[in-house]
Amino acid sequence: MNYKKKLIEVSLPLEAINRESAREKSIRHGHPSTLHLYWARRPLATARAILFAQLVNDPSSDPDKFPTIELQDRERIRLHKLIDELVNWDNLNNTALFDQALQEILDSNGGELPRVLDPFAGGGSIPIEAQRLGLLSSASDLNPLAVVLNKSLLEFPARFAGSRPVFPGLAENQSSWAKTEGLAADISQYGRALRDLTASQLGVHYPEISIGGSTNAKVIAWIWARTVQSPNPANPIMVPLVRSWWLSKKKGSEAYIVPTLENGELKFRVNRDANGPRPEEDGTIGRQGGFAIGDGTPISLDYVRKEGIAGRLGRVLMAIVAEGPNGRLYLDPSEEQSSAATVERPISVPSGSIPSNTRDFRPPLYGLTEWSDLFSDRQISTLVALSDNLKTIRHQVISDARLSGAPEGKSLEEGGNGASAYGDAIAVYLALAIGRTTDYGNALNSWSSTRETVRNLFARQAIPMVWDYAESNPFSSSTGNFVGQVDWVSKAVMNAPTRNEGVVSQANASTRDYRGFVISTDPPYYDNIGYADLSDFFYVWLRRSLQDVLPNTLNTILTPKTDELVADSTRHGSKVAAEMFFVDGFNSVFTKIRAQADHSAPITIYYAYKQQEEDASGKSSTGWHTLLSGLIASGWEITATWPVRSEMSNRMISNGANVLASSIVLSCRPRNENAEATTRRGFLSALKNELPGALRELMQGAIAPVDLAQAAIGPGISVFSRYSRVRENDGTDMSVKEALLLINAALDDVLNEQESDFDPVTRFAVKWYKQYGWNDEASGIADQLARSSDTSIAVLERGGIFSAKAGKAHLISASKLADSTGWDPLNDESLSIWECTVRLAGIMATKGADSVSQLLPAVESRVGLDPVKELGFLLFYEAEKKGDTKDAILFNGLVSAWGDLTMRAHRDLNEPKVNEQFLFNLEEQEDGDQ
Ligand SMILES: C[S@@+](CC[C@H](N)C(=O)[O-])C[C@H]1O[C@@H](n2cnc3c(N)ncnc32)[C@H](O)[C@@H]1O
Repeated sequence: MNYKKKLIEVSLPLEAINRESAREKSIRHGHPSTLHLYWARRPLATARAILFAQLVNDPSSDPDKFPTIELQDRERIRLHKLIDELVNWDNLNNTALFDQALQEILDSNGGELPRVLDPFAGGGSIPIEAQRLGLLSSASDLNPLAVVLNKSLLEFPARFAGSRPVFPGLAENQSSWAKTEGLAADISQYGRALRDLTASQLGVHYPEISIGGSTNAKVIAWIWARTVQSPNPANPIMVPLVRSWWLSKKKGSEAYIVPTLENGELKFRVNRDANGPRPEEDGTIGRQGGFAIGDGTPISLDYVRKEGIAGRLGRVLMAIVAEGPNGRLYLDPSEEQSSAATVERPISVPSGSIPSNTRDFRPPLYGLTEWSDLFSDRQISTLVALSDNLKTIRHQVISDARLSGAPEGKSLEEGGNGASAYGDAIAVYLALAIGRTTDYGNALNSWSSTRETVRNLFARQAIPMVWDYAESNPFSSSTGNFVGQVDWVSKAVMNAPTRNEGVVSQANASTRDYRGFVISTDPPYYDNIGYADLSDFFYVWLRRSLQDVLPNTLNTILTPKTDELVADSTRHGSKVAAEMFFVDGFNSVFTKIRAQADHSAPITIYYAYKQQEEDASGKSSTGWHTLLSGLIASGWEITATWPVRSEMSNRMISNGANVLASSIVLSCRPRNENAEATTRRGFLSALKNELPGALRELMQGAIAPVDLAQAAIGPGISVFSRYSRVRENDGTDMSVKEALLLINAALDDVLNEQESDFDPVTRFAVKWYKQYGWNDEASGIADQLARSSDTSIAVLERGGIFSAKAGKAHLISASKLADSTGWDPLNDESLSIWECTVRLAGIMATKGADSVSQLLPAVESRVGLDPVKELGFLLFYEAEKKGDTKDAILFNGLVSAWGDLTMRAHRDLNEPKVNEQFLFNLEEQEDGDQ
């Protein structure tokens, strides 16, 4: 090894990263993801932590500064604490903290600012975090939608940082405009101007509704159902296709639609009580088909498809949602409201066909084959008007910018920052707001009766067929309105980092240049998500609105597909051909990166786990093997594998099958050109040598037991991938799959070897637990096992952990141990590590962290804390092997909170007793803040 190890190659505070990544999901305002939809974004907290740990040295790389293991451990803890603070969303504006982080990175890189590139940038999580850390951030993607999003986050905010707004009269409202405040304020104001202009042309098609007397209310949404002629020739009425009649399930304001047939004519009224349909009688259509209202004639989906393809599906207005003085009003449909929606369809609608991949795109099966078919006439007229009016607004911005003194300058795409570029930038952001409006303003948006809002189209990475849909009013001030979308965009811009302007380009990762870049990336994987196909939904609108503004980025009619790394069998002819295309393409990208990139730091690669890839043991997957084999074949040594998740760990293990992390981050180094080959035996002996130390570091770090097996693949596969080849006894090359099995077995050995360091009582209890858990067994067996462990049943019983009565014996369970009050480790004459670990795990589960941390100082003084934690790891591991989820959660709960518990314990010790009450209150407040 002739490079300095980086922190990511040794340890990471995974618990903090996972916690903040999970928390991020509930953060809405100002999160960059609110700029516009993109599929499967990585959490920012993860991206930030990974970049930092990828760029700072591990203390073992600086033996002059940290000559002993203790000093290195201490320094790692300091770096972990810094990461802990960095990942916290509340610290985003803590300039001193980010300055410190940048300084640490500079110190580890000889004072040079690293240039970081993500060649598969997507929604931009990784490059935006590189920029937030103050690095020189570059992003590229094949997909022009991704390119526009990255430019809007990385380039334009930094370029216009500090500018005063140009909207007439706005600049005077504030004495100074820091960062993106001016840009965000202009987006907001010109967005309103765009809305007003469009409303003045088309507002008449969105009439208010009378709610009694002379009072009118604004309509929030019109609830439509598609209709089909009943296949019953004796009664061929148009019947509604409805998934659910419910409008509101909110307690106290329930409402639902009631259909009636009057003289063969279908009518709807809204009932406002809680007696709506039960789930089994709700709606008229589901996955298995539907039925006709009135005579119950069955309607197959096949029939609906045929009618749809023949252009014979209709629609009918079923209900209206309006803005009432005290919340939503649910009203009967009316002829006036229904006919207001009849507008002439514009000619200049965006063109383009929906892909023929029926796994992800269902509407074409029903005759909706063009992107523009997904909108009603009224919706598409308004979108076309917004898109056309954008040009007027852009000219207005340019003229206002000139008036405020800005020079004309080059265009935005040419790198300008004058009046012309500013007008372009505002147009880009408003086009993104129009994009957001298409997501909430199409004829596939269902109405959520629990949240009383319009659901956006892309709840998943696919477009389903929707029968009854809510047409939102873009000019209301409620769900799905246009100005609301503008404000989401403006808030995302407000929070965009502005330290250095990033560099964003459209490029194929297989052919682009990597020289001078450190790489962190989240490549596409197999056929998980068809980004290009999905993006066309938005792209056709983006191009329509911005073709003059970003002519180079938006130069193709649809998003490029041929070079997209996705194993799409419809595109490549067969499953095998699709897979080959993907694997070859993927490997060639990483071969190129190996040949060209800056290797002063490892590269980091995110691998998204697909749950169905798991085998029966839940630990392995063919996709995972292919990825590792591909990287090794392209000349990489894998130096770490970190399981990261954006769900809370206990919830995940309790799901049983979902034990795996949502993704794994790998760090890789180019393998030495002259790497030696070795034999199976050589590999095993290197594993034996290196794994114990690496595991010790992993367990010392803040890692939960549930993550240990996956994290341990890192140091194991690092040994494997360091060799040019590992020869099996029969002369063939060892497969990655075999190597992973051996690594797993070695992990087992290392954990079990710890047993010999434990006291006899603990050794006995571990052996017993492995065989019988908490169950009863014959006392005779217990007696034998006790002797061979150098103890006796009497000692075990005195130790309070075992019971033997009437020929039967069992271990005392954690919950019983936790129940017994007044346990004092200082005065416990026969204390074992087993008793401490199991009691503490039980107390943690039943009484919480405070009760555990109060006991830790006494435990520390008697048996030490490390063995207690190590036994926790071992017991989790054994519980998991036995498939005992309850125990796995029990021990994971104790060990994963270890860092926090010991911190509390030491703090409690150092604080004078009189302050206890005060401390307690403080803590409560901190928790409340989160
Ligand atoms: C997993 S996504 C990245 C998501 C991103 N990390 C985020 O958090 O939003 C992968 C990206 O790779 C892009 N892509 C696919 N094939 C490509 C190619 N040949 N060259 C460049 N980008 C490609 C897709 O357009 C997609 O945006």
